[in-house]
Amino acid sequence: MGNHIQNFLNKISIACASIATITLLFLYLQTPETCIPPNAPITKPHVKFPSSTCDPSLNHPYLSLAKKNQRLWSSKSWLSQLSSFTAFFSQLQHLNLLHNHSRVLCVSAGAGHEVMALNNMGVSDVTGVELVDSLPLVRRADPNNLPFFDGMFDLAFSARLVEALFPLRFAGEMERTVRRGGVCVIVVDECGEEEVGEIVRLFRGSKFVGAENVTLIGVKMTRIIMRVGVSSPS
Ligand SMILES: *[C@@H]1O[C@H](CO)[C@@H](O)[C@H](O)[C@H]1NC(C)=O
Ligand SMILES: *[C@@H]1O[C@H](CO)[C@@H](O)[C@H](O)[C@H]1NC(C)=O
Repeated sequence: MGNHIQNFLNKISIACASIATITLLFLYLQTPETCIPPNAPITKPHVKFPSSTCDPSLNHPYLSLAKKNQRLWSSKSWLSQLSSFTAFFSQLQHLNLLHNHSRVLCVSAGAGHEVMALNNMGVSDVTGVELVDSLPLVRRADPNNLPFFDGMFDLAFSARLVEALFPLRFAGEMERTVRRGGVCVIVVDECGEEEVGEIVRLFRGSKFVGAENVTLIGVKMTRIIMRVGVSSPS
């Protein structure tokens, strides 16, 4: 009886050992997905420090940025958006709200079409901000917490208020950074009186100047202008 049990146990342990071996072999032969293919170049990031500050490879990111910008700025889509913004800002010039010496803030300026348009028109003091850098036209800043002093700008422009996470905060920051008597110019998808009223109410320290339907980048939009420093009658 004892022998039988011993034999049985032996068989079980042999079976277990075989299963373990097969499993191990299987694991060895399986190539995990994260495995580096055998022909991949060997990279050693820890030895990739530049040998000196004159290392030409250091300049590479800047060169490629300039090249990238050159390509972007000469693209058809960039040029057509640029001329659309130029036409848009020319209207503000005719309304006597924008001058060459105006200090302009463009909030959520994307890749910076409006910044370049203003610069090309002769408005040199333009600051473009966005959540990510698009140097040299646009630098990184949180629209809900602009890194500028009160009243620094004559005009603040944004076509992105509607997409803002905190529209009231966004509007409040535009208003704060524009001097008394300066203007906030907002562009939204074409809308009527009611929606215009909703936008205007976000600008608690400003007076509604006017709203007009315009075309920007081929899209029908509504331009809303508010003068900072005088509260709208509510
Ligand atoms: C504004 O700047 C542009 C471009 O430099 C120039 O052509 C234009 O005459 C300037 N306008 C005024 C009013 O100075
Ligand atoms: C813009 O156009 C739409 C459609 O024609 C109209 O309903 C709306 O009132 C216009 N908005 C303004 C501010 O003129």
